[in-house]
Amino acid sequence: MDSFWIWWILAVTQILPIFYSNPLIQTIHAKTPQSPVECNQSGCTLQNSYGGWGDRKDCVALNITYPTTEEEFRLAVSQAVQKNLKVKVVTKFSHTIPKLACPEGKNNSLLISTEKYDSSIQIDDANLAVTADSGVGLRALIDAVEDAGFSLVASPYWEGVSIGGLINTGAHGSSWWGKGGAVHDHVIGLSIIVPASESEGYARILRLEAQDPLFNAAKVSLGVLGAISKVKLSIEPRFKRSITYNFTDDANIEDVYTDHAKKYEFADITWYPSKNTSVYRYDSRVPLNTSGDGVYDFIGFQGNSILISKSVRAAEKMLENAKNAKGKCLTAAATLGFKKLTGNGLKNNGLLFTGYPVVGYQGKIQTSGSCLYSTRFDTACAWDPRIDGLFFYESTAIFLASKFGDFIRDVRKLRDLKPENFCGIDNYNGILIRFIKASDAYLGQSEDSVVIDFNYYRSKDASTPRLNQDVWEEVEQLAFFKYGAKPHWAKNRKLAFLGVQKKYPKFDQFIAAKQQLDPKSMFSSTWSDEILYGKESEKFDGCALEGLCICAEDKHCSPQLGYYCKEGLIYKEARVCRYSSPSKTITSTV
Ligand SMILES: Cc1cc2nc3c(=O)[nH]c(=O)nc-3n(C[C@H](O)[C@H](O)[C@H](O)COP(=O)(O)OP(=O)(O)OC[C@H]3O[C@@H](n4cnc5c(N)ncnc54)[C@H](O)[C@@H]3O)c2cc1C
Ligand SMILES: *[C@@H]1O[C@H](CO)[C@@H](O)[C@H](O)[C@H]1NC(C)=O
Ligand SMILES: *[C@@H]1O[C@H](CO)[C@@H](O)[C@H](O)[C@H]1NC(C)=O
Ligand SMILES: *[C@@H]1O[C@H](CO)[C@@H](O)[C@H](O)[C@H]1NC(C)=O
Ligand SMILES: *[C@@H]1O[C@H](CO)[C@@H](O)[C@H](O)[C@H]1NC(C)=O
Ligand SMILES: *[C@@H]1O[C@H](CO)[C@@H](O)[C@H](O)[C@H]1NC(C)=O
Ligand SMILES: *[C@@H]1O[C@H](CO)[C@@H](O)[C@H](O)[C@H]1NC(C)=O
Repeated sequence: MDSFWIWWILAVTQILPIFYSNPLIQTIHAKTPQSPVECNQSGCTLQNSYGGWGDRKDCVALNITYPTTEEEFRLAVSQAVQKNLKVKVVTKFSHTIPKLACPEGKNNSLLISTEKYDSSIQIDDANLAVTADSGVGLRALIDAVEDAGFSLVASPYWEGVSIGGLINTGAHGSSWWGKGGAVHDHVIGLSIIVPASESEGYARILRLEAQDPLFNAAKVSLGVLGAISKVKLSIEPRFKRSITYNFTDDANIEDVYTDHAKKYEFADITWYPSKNTSVYRYDSRVPLNTSGDGVYDFIGFQGNSILISKSVRAAEKMLENAKNAKGKCLTAAATLGFKKLTGNGLKNNGLLFTGYPVVGYQGKIQTSGSCLYSTRFDTACAWDPRIDGLFFYESTAIFLASKFGDFIRDVRKLRDLKPENFCGIDNYNGILIRFIKASDAYLGQSEDSVVIDFNYYRSKDASTPRLNQDVWEEVEQLAFFKYGAKPHWAKNRKLAFLGVQKKYPKFDQFIAAKQQLDPKSMFSSTWSDEILYGKESEKFDGCALEGLCICAEDKHCSPQLGYYCKEGLIYKEARVCRYSSPSKTITSTV
């Protein structure tokens, strides 16, 4: 990982004489991620793993409790019912970006953490199933299943999540085969703790299975139906996969994505628009006796030196402040070159990338996150809020498969106007394209779908606009409004959720289940309601800079810094904050 960033910095130093001025020697104590919750006498503050909610305001609760068994978990809910407190379940990880986990406030809410509720993983060989406590981490679950001779077929690419948290937000990997890439479609049983009458002890545990009418509501429930205590997943006999990345041109993504997803069980595509490059992941199961013990240790999730992270951030910030798109293109080229050289983090023998294909066990090739376990004192995940490292937005849009081709065509038109406008996302991971299959979950996808993710710079200061932010805003609005894409529940800026309930045909059935299980909405808060119901909030000066609104007037952008509310370049209905330099009347981005 370090060598990757050194390469990146070399690219920056070609264009900037001095790229950072921080003293090199500092006392740094960062290793494994910090706890998301901090309590003192006046209450508890919850943060996400990036150390910044969409609106940058803290989430606070009265207190927190750490059950270790299912009965303690039930008692915690029972006590909250008796004291008339609102509840939010939090995890050790808190990796979700929107404020779904935010409690109502200091006066009346309790956090229940699953951090210490993670001891039980039971494997049922005969029925090909595993049942885990909801606080179990994804890596621990995968390792236990693989040790017993089985594999989980679907999981997200990032392992720093709990099984309860990830199914709640519809987390996914990539596949149109079998039950598909979304983990909740492999869930075959759930236990959920809900408020109950006095005679039932104020809280009861429901054991739901496929035939239960509440099951499709509970599979993806954003934490608002109740506290999930156990998750039962289907498993398959252990298998291996063989992966090849084809770095090629991006000429016909819109014509081939469907065939690509049908041909390879774990297909994905990464598009680097500024570089006219797309990377096709050819990824299929192979017989268990195929030789190879490869791992996928994705570059972006490897631990890297804190010093390097700080420098990269300082360099990125400098390019931002100088509005230096060309500089971003140089670093994007370095990034892509390095990924090609290292197979994105694939390692044939667990240590080095020596060439394609890379064959390895499912448990080591689907999901990664080695930065979580940094043992060196001076390394951490690149976005760790304690180190002044990367800070970024993440937009994730889920399209009906049939509409995706036209979206790609529109983004291509936007790109062709000025390719260098796209270098900012290519410094991260370009546009990652993945596949998920139609689901019965009410808040899952009703049809076979295509998901895109893209990351981009976020300033540490809410009132600072970003280079090319009009471009990302136009892509966002194309996705969510022109093409009606749905926002991933665990990612995105607030505007992406506008009108979200109309995009789910079974939304009303979800709400009916919520009213049945939690009639007093004790598991909801103002914050989770804003996301679930996609409420439009009041506009204020600068609100569009952070994606808290879509601009309607210049003051929603930053006229004082030269960013005005303008229409989109390809999608005229879009309203975006675009920079125009004070000396010229024409816009600067095109
Ligand atoms: C670096 C990174 C990479 C990622 N990659 C992917 C990816 O490849 N694919 C993908 O789909 N997603 C991805 N994500 C998103 C991630 O999968 C989700 O944010 C996931 O929900 C995080 O799980 P968590 O355990 O941190 O849950 P949290 O964020 O802590 O919780 C999620 C929600 O569930 C609720 N909750 C949690 N546990 C319970 C419970 N037991 N009972 C009731 N409610 C509960 C919380 O209150 C909250 O509302 C990524 C995130 C990061 C940071
Ligand atoms: C408690 O923590 C909150 C939030 O971090 C902080 O604002 C407050 O000052 C702290 N109070 C005390 C008494 O330390
Ligand atoms: C929080 O809970 C702990 C443990 O149950 C208790 O000792 C403490 O007094 C509580 N704090 C508040 C502010 O209620
Ligand atoms: C919390 O309670 C205090 C004292 O009862 C009250 O002044 C305050 O307005 C309440 N805050 C909220 C957010 O309800
Ligand atoms: C990579 O993709 C290109 C374009 O689709 C194709 O022509 C080429 O054969 C592929 N290479 C490999 C190794 O499959
Ligand atoms: C990518 O294609 C565009 C035209 O579509 C062209 O202007 C540009 O130079 C190409 N860029 C690269 C890096 O090949
Ligand atoms: C793998 O096992 C199958 C039978 O299960 C056998 O036909 C094949 O030759 C084996 N392949 C290797 C590479 O050992």
